[in-house]
Amino acid sequence: MSGASLESPSGNHPLRGRLRVVSDKSLTHRGLIFGALAEGETRLGTPNRGADCRATARALQTLGAEIDETEQGLVIRGGRGRLRTPASQLDLENSGTGIRLLAGMLAGLPLRATLTGDASLCRRPMRRIIDPLGRFGATINSQNGLAPLEIEGVSESALAARGADERVDLSIASAQVKSAILLAHLGRRAGSLTVAEPSPSRDHTERLLEFLGAGVTRPDARTVRIDFPVTLRARDWQVPGDISAAAFFLVLGTIAPDARLEIEAVGLNPTRTGVLDALLRMGARIAIESDLTSGPEPLGRLVVESAPLRAITIAGEEVPRLLDEIPVLAVAAARAEGLTWFRDVGELRVKESDRIASTCALLRALGAEVIEEETAFAVRGPVRFRAARIDTMADHRIAMSALIARAAGQPSIEIDRLDMIETSDPEFLRTLATIGGGGV
Ligand code: S3P
Repeated sequence: MSGASLESPSGNHPLRGRLRVVSDKSLTHRGLIFGALAEGETRLGTPNRGADCRATARALQTLGAEIDETEQGLVIRGGRGRLRTPASQLDLENSGTGIRLLAGMLAGLPLRATLTGDASLCRRPMRRIIDPLGRFGATINSQNGLAPLEIEGVSESALAARGADERVDLSIASAQVKSAILLAHLGRRAGSLTVAEPSPSRDHTERLLEFLGAGVTRPDARTVRIDFPVTLRARDWQVPGDISAAAFFLVLGTIAPDARLEIEAVGLNPTRTGVLDALLRMGARIAIESDLTSGPEPLGRLVVESAPLRAITIAGEEVPRLLDEIPVLAVAAARAEGLTWFRDVGELRVKESDRIASTCALLRALGAEVIEEETAFAVRGPVRFRAARIDTMADHRIAMSALIARAAGQPSIEIDRLDMIETSDPEFLRTLATIGGGGV
């Protein structure tokens, strides 16, 4: 699809309406993987049906899990005993979470498998999992620490022989790395594993483990401990809306004139809600009604209305809580009064694109003054977005951020490709269209 085939945003009509965003991608990956490991049948309601999660589902099917798709969701029949050495490579396409979590799972199973992905995934750093999974006892062959990863997991007898209380201290706050390590150890029969991060990252894996019956303790927000043995029992649950998808509509509802958007059933896990805190600090008008839970996760309703914004600084421990939302927060920053700094964001350099470079390029194209450093960047606002042609660098979140700038009142923004949006949100253009923001 090209930018030219899109309808323009609806002229002077205010953006108003009630919407549901796509279901959470992080949670769907975990729902699939833990569904494949748990004994019994899991009904995973309202999963994310984007290309990333589909790639994880296909890989698990190739490994022997049974996964059926229904209108309501997925039915997964799992159990460690079902999983076997696959006949072919497992292609995780564009999915960093898929490849890293599956590498962890495979490291702890007596199997051999090769994990690979698309050109972008095969450029992303894998040493962060290869090293700890190698120390755990798995053999992982790669060239220069990049996918394809040939994995030979530890034997059942090696797992059975591990009875000590073990501890892993991570040098980066990464839920992908933490989850890979937790997954690798799950087949142990005795002892415990403690994983500590320098600062807290999203805790979906910990919550789901607990929900499925594992003995999980959380000495503090950056430390998790599991006691073995772990028996995971299949349980049904529904995946809430993705706050990372809601972020696009929160920014749109804030910067578009006279807008009011109600977003239903969004996941509000506190380790993911940094985008709400940041927008509120900038002066956004967002009402948060959080009173429900869905399986292991809290969720609620968000109502956003147009508001003038002021610059803030985002830094430190706040960053993992809003990491994926930075491109669209930068679009908000371009409309805010003053210089907004995004500091300590070096991890963005190794996402689906070099997201410091791709976000700064997007903002420059829109007419903003940008300061770019190795692990930080800043945006000066407010600017009126100008007509532009955007190079997304094949990154779904850059494409969606550009569409938000376009829907907020600059119909002459063209975008080089939109197909990557499929990786996380196949419904994005339609959802944007239903509230009058252009789209299909
Ligand atoms: C994710 C963790 C984050 C995030 C990614 C999804 C997850 O990555 O950026 O989109 O589902 O665990 P890191 O853990 O590598 O920071």
